[in-house]
Amino acid sequence: MPRRKADRASQSTRRNFLKTTGAAAVGLSAGTRFAAGQNTEQLALHGGPKAVTLSDEAATRWPLYGKEEEEAVLALVRNPGYGVIKEFEKEWADFHGMPYAKAHFNGTSALTSMMFALDLPPGSEVLVASYSTWFPLVPARFFGLVPRFVDVDPRTINIDVEDAKKRLTKNTRAILAVHWYGVPCEMDRIVEFAKEHDLIVLEDCSHAHGAAVKGKLVGTWGRMSAFSLQMGKPLPAIEGGMAMYHTREDFERATVYGNYDLPNTFPADSPYRKYHGTAFGSKLRIHPMAAALARCQLKRLKEYNTAGVAQLRRLNDRLTQLPGLTEQYARPDMDRVVYANNLLFIDEAKAGMSREAAVAALRAEGVPVGVYKWVLLHTMPLFQEAKWWHHLPENPGELPGSNQVNKTLIKLPHLTREAPELVDQWVRAFEKVWAHRKQIGKA
Ligand SMILES: Cc1ncc(COP(=O)(O)O)c(C=O)c1O
Repeated sequence: MPRRKADRASQSTRRNFLKTTGAAAVGLSAGTRFAAGQNTEQLALHGGPKAVTLSDEAATRWPLYGKEEEEAVLALVRNPGYGVIKEFEKEWADFHGMPYAKAHFNGTSALTSMMFALDLPPGSEVLVASYSTWFPLVPARFFGLVPRFVDVDPRTINIDVEDAKKRLTKNTRAILAVHWYGVPCEMDRIVEFAKEHDLIVLEDCSHAHGAAVKGKLVGTWGRMSAFSLQMGKPLPAIEGGMAMYHTREDFERATVYGNYDLPNTFPADSPYRKYHGTAFGSKLRIHPMAAALARCQLKRLKEYNTAGVAQLRRLNDRLTQLPGLTEQYARPDMDRVVYANNLLFIDEAKAGMSREAAVAALRAEGVPVGVYKWVLLHTMPLFQEAKWWHHLPENPGELPGSNQVNKTLIKLPHLTREAPELVDQWVRAFEKVWAHRKQIGKA
């Protein structure tokens, strides 16, 4: 829709909304304003006017590539080579204040190298949230490592450290923190717990590039960390991955797994130099064009993260005033980022309507909202068959935190750009649906 027309539509919808809700509704406290039954405007679900008339296409566009990316890729086409990889690795390591970084062709290959670098005896167990991804765990299988599934904190959707404590066994050697949808795990608590039990801390930062805990960037807390640079991620290279290491030993071992041509660049005393030529199984080098794109994006990572969080606040500060609607929690000493979706929880008892009914009503109003359910890893066939593993990953039993998330979560798209009018329309749609929640709850 052309901008002018869209603005007019938005204003007239707003006038209708104010007329039908009554001007008195404006300025009242959240509790009063959204009391069920106040808004007499008919729901779009029942034939009333839609609250959302603006398209979200421009505001949700991702990745944001421009002239700089075009020129970087073109420069490689004109002058092909691998030099850009080293430059990217150096810039990435400097950004994080880390001594070692290795770029890979995707996040999975970065994670595979990291799991090889762990060098743990077969049968070692890694604590990890069942509510997370299989990407680090499927390759961990090659090296005899077995996941030990843990619940998540239902407010953050990140690993529940208290539950992890209960699941320790004599074989547990590591804990993998997966920072979910931009909200960092409680790395200070994880590191403290790991120290007490002599566990290695690993991080999967694929949803949280540039996020921090107590001012310290994710990916720098653990002994090793990996990132996906796939095109939906906070730092998109279309396809790509990165891993970081604190020690030369870990870096060389990880690098030798998937880079046949690099061992002779290690110092003379490296135990891995002799494997130059064969490496240890795979070729996991990043494509130089992905490295070129990622270099451009790294320069704008902070700017994009700040813009995403600003839009999230613009929206969520208003939405979370509605009864029963909360957002994914990040501690005040954390700097979260936004990845792909804005995740919110609907507490059905407090909202007075089911999540499914609320989502149906919101969708009818034109809000691109959806129910969000995640398949818990321990229920997937791969994690239930002993033949694929050193030993069968133990079924963790009931995971109340994960189940609660699956019963309450909804998702909105990540707004990557300033979109005040669109945010206004989305908020008004939520307010309208909430004002009818008694009626929706009864249906
Ligand atoms: C948390 C997490 N880890 C790892 C990966 C794997 O990354 P890639 O797709 O780049 O291999 C993903 C991809 O979606 C992910 O979400």
